Amino acid sequence: MQQVERFGVSMPTDLLARLDEAIAEAGYKNRSEAIRDMVRDYLVRRQWDDSAEEVVGAVTISYDHHCPEVLCKLTSLQHHHGATVLCSTHIHLDHHHCLETVVVRGTGMQVRTLAEGLLSIRGVKHGGLTITAADGL
Ligand code: NI
Repeated sequence: MQQVERFGVSMPTDLLARLDEAIAEAGYKNRSEAIRDMVRDYLVRRQWDDSAEEVVGAVTISYDHHCPEVLCKLTSLQHHHGATVLCSTHIHLDHHHCLETVVVRGTGMQVRTLAEGLLSIRGVKHGGLTITAADGL
């Protein structure tokens, strides 16, 4: 039998309530089963992004610009990956929230590294990376 390890996860109460609702709707019997599937899905997609082929794409992120240092960190990271960033668009959604789309070009690995860096900055609430082949397929 495969060895199993238990670990604790902290998350906002309302986010956990929404997760419980979604996994119940999807038919999962418990959180562990649902989270295992989410982790597998994440690992499969990550493997695909590790390509050395050139890709183009967009990283879309939403964040609260009042969160300490979020703007500074987002800008610094984009400058650090200046050769991968083609342009970015910023939209002020409401008093607190911003939506930013960063258009990128590079190897799958370069693009994924930048996307993960942006998405993991504290204050970034949601987002994702969409890519396609640079030669248009
Ligand atoms: Ni804004």
